[in-house]
Amino acid sequence: MFSTHAHAAKVYQVATDAAYAPFESLNSKKEVVGFSVDILEAIAQKTGMKIKFINTPWEGIFATLPNGDRDMVISSVTITPERKQSMDFSEPYFEAKQLIAVNKKNKVSKFTDLKTIKVGVQTGTTGDEVIQKLQGKTSPNIKRFESTPLAIKELENGGVDAVVADNGVVVNFVSNNPKSNLKTIDDATFAKEYYGIAVKKGNKALIEQLNKGLAAIKADGTYEKIYTKYFGK
Ligand code: ARG
Repeated sequence: MFSTHAHAAKVYQVATDAAYAPFESLNSKKEVVGFSVDILEAIAQKTGMKIKFINTPWEGIFATLPNGDRDMVISSVTITPERKQSMDFSEPYFEAKQLIAVNKKNKVSKFTDLKTIKVGVQTGTTGDEVIQKLQGKTSPNIKRFESTPLAIKELENGGVDAVVADNGVVVNFVSNNPKSNLKTIDDATFAKEYYGIAVKKGNKALIEQLNKGLAAIKADGTYEKIYTKYFGK
């Protein structure tokens, strides 16, 4: 609690779009909670890092790194070759893939069935990218939302016919909201994705610290404990 050092230790500012349960969301006390949060807190504890989570909108979240507003982004961010050009990533802390949500009565059974129907996605996510590949970048049937919960709300309201988003988030919503009458559809063509912690390009020291911490919590069972807390055995 109390620092014995003459200078206050740096508090790393961490951006997260806390509308992505069970990875990062706000609890009733408006605190940022979730799997990603627990993982970074455990890493910070291992490496003696002080961190502060700041709920940050997804749109523009990566721009907070080069401009120095935030030191890290942990927000279920998929490591992609394109993103790696403008930021650096830790080793992966979670494996994911895309998943489709539709109304239970919908006849959609595979990804290519989404070719000509209205699909909701969170702007600039990997879900947005996969549907662009199927429908074309400028397709009027891609409906973009600033958060994934807003896209799902539109699906419940019938404004879109399907939502494409990360599997953990879609499964979490569908199983916690049986009254919404949604089902999930997996597709073999969806590639594996890996979540990483993003930092400003070139911040090697911070990446090394994060990777060291991540390796340590994997080695001592902390990672597994956190995993089980959110996803079971
Ligand atoms: N994994 C996806 C991506 O990196 C979606 C992440 C969205 N995260 C969030 N907290 N809204 O594009």
